[in-house]
Amino acid sequence: MPEPSGPSVRIPGAASLAQGEARTFSFSRAGKTYEGFILRHRLGFFAYANACPHWNVDLDLGFGDFYDPELDAIFCRNHGALFRPDTGLCSAGPCAGLYLEKFELGWDGGDALVEVGSLTLIGAENLG
Ligand code: FES
Repeated sequence: MPEPSGPSVRIPGAASLAQGEARTFSFSRAGKTYEGFILRHRLGFFAYANACPHWNVDLDLGFGDFYDPELDAIFCRNHGALFRPDTGLCSAGPCAGLYLEKFELGWDGGDALVEVGSLTLIGAENLG
């Protein structure tokens, strides 16, 4: 797998996450510290900023659970928005049609390398 081209965050042992399990990580951007999470899903590993596009607040309220296996969705604990695990698209809730900020992933053995260097997702529907 290709190495990330920008600043990246190493997530040690991420390859051993169980399906449906997520792990948070911190990253810096423009001098500020933010949080993201990596999720292992049946379709693969996916990493996103821990920020709901509705209010730009933590999805998990600090509980560390991001994925509901019965709904097969990432969810926001604030108002219940649901997101597709593979794309971050909000399929239901107050931010329907918007996306979580998704990060590219690389691997170094069992460690994930999450590229967080730049804002990677601005969907046209996010600009309205
Ligand atoms: S803050 Fe996520 S749905 Fe309202």
